[in-house]
Amino acid sequence: MSVKGPVVVDLKFERREIDAALANAFKDRTVLRASDPDADLSDARYAVVWKPDAELFQRAPKLEVLFSGGAGVDYILGMPSLPDIPVVRFVDESLTVRMSEWVVLQALSHLRQVPTYLKQQRDCQWQELAQPEAKEVTVGVMGLGVLGQDSVRKLKVMGFNVVGWSRSRKSIEGIETFDSSQLDDFLAKTDILVGLLPLTSETRGLFDARLFSKLRQGGALGRPVFINAGRGGSQVEADLITALENGVLGGASLDVFENEPLEADSAFWQMENVIITPHAASASDIKALFRNAESQMNEYEAGQKLRNVVDRSTGY
Ligand SMILES: NC(=O)c1ccc[n+]([C@@H]2O[C@H](COP(=O)([O-])OP(=O)(O)OC[C@H]3O[C@@H](n4cnc5c(N)ncnc54)[C@H](OP(=O)(O)O)[C@@H]3O)[C@@H](O)[C@H]2O)c1
Repeated sequence: MSVKGPVVVDLKFERREIDAALANAFKDRTVLRASDPDADLSDARYAVVWKPDAELFQRAPKLEVLFSGGAGVDYILGMPSLPDIPVVRFVDESLTVRMSEWVVLQALSHLRQVPTYLKQQRDCQWQELAQPEAKEVTVGVMGLGVLGQDSVRKLKVMGFNVVGWSRSRKSIEGIETFDSSQLDDFLAKTDILVGLLPLTSETRGLFDARLFSKLRQGGALGRPVFINAGRGGSQVEADLITALENGVLGGASLDVFENEPLEADSAFWQMENVIITPHAASASDIKALFRNAESQMNEYEAGQKLRNVVDRSTGY
């Protein structure tokens, strides 16, 4: 019988990857699977979850801490049956580094006109395009949390001029930063807009026609570009499609959508200036997730404070 608190796992991730990660995780704890309908979860003290079943909290009434399988907690916080216990976000170097790779890749892809060159390749067309330098282009990152702060630094290393926006103003060497009251000033400087915001009541629908119209026109890329890997609920897709069609935006890279998977008849699929990835910008490394949760459970049982606890009042 384990002396440490039992853990229930309810992760809607690839089953094989969960099995492989569990082989070396929570060695001195009882691990229960919510996917097993006969499992008795009544004594579980912790849950590690991604899109958990609604009935989890009835089946596991003694939960003390909920560990999110990802950095975003909008799904969990939106569950009507969520008990009033701490929710811990997943913060890990693997997640941060992957996101920065994706952001830098997308910014460079638009700088170096990859969508146009891919079209020319399909058309067997040999034609060199004008080539602005990264330092002529300003990338504006909305959301300067764990992910945004790493991304701005790596964009800077690539030579971009970088500006950042967040609720409270940040101090980051070499980066001009803005707080939430200075959104228009921030947008007026931005050629490539990067969304790395959580989905909350304040950020839902934030990326709309009005916002796109305030981005800098006529910069080194000609027209502004929109890149989003935060949450799809923050973008108004009808406005985004119009902005891409009427030239308010010159291109986009989208990892997240209002509805996922993206519908087969979405206009985005056919747009040659849009790069689509299937919510894959930064997947959680399940082994790292379990390591992270396990060490926090041990610390919690030793009387230490939990880290990266979600503030229910702000929603992130
Ligand atoms: N596509 C993917 O694969 C993927 C993977 C992981 C995460 N994500 C998304 O990325 C999001 C960000 O992750 P993170 O770890 O960087 O989160 P975080 O550390 O909590 O940072 C969130 C940032 O957003 C800012 N913010 C939130 N609400 C705001 C508002 N109303 N106005 C202005 N700024 C606001 C915060 O400002 P303050 O600093 O002032 O509080 C903070 O800088 C997650 O919530 C998730 O949705 C996506």
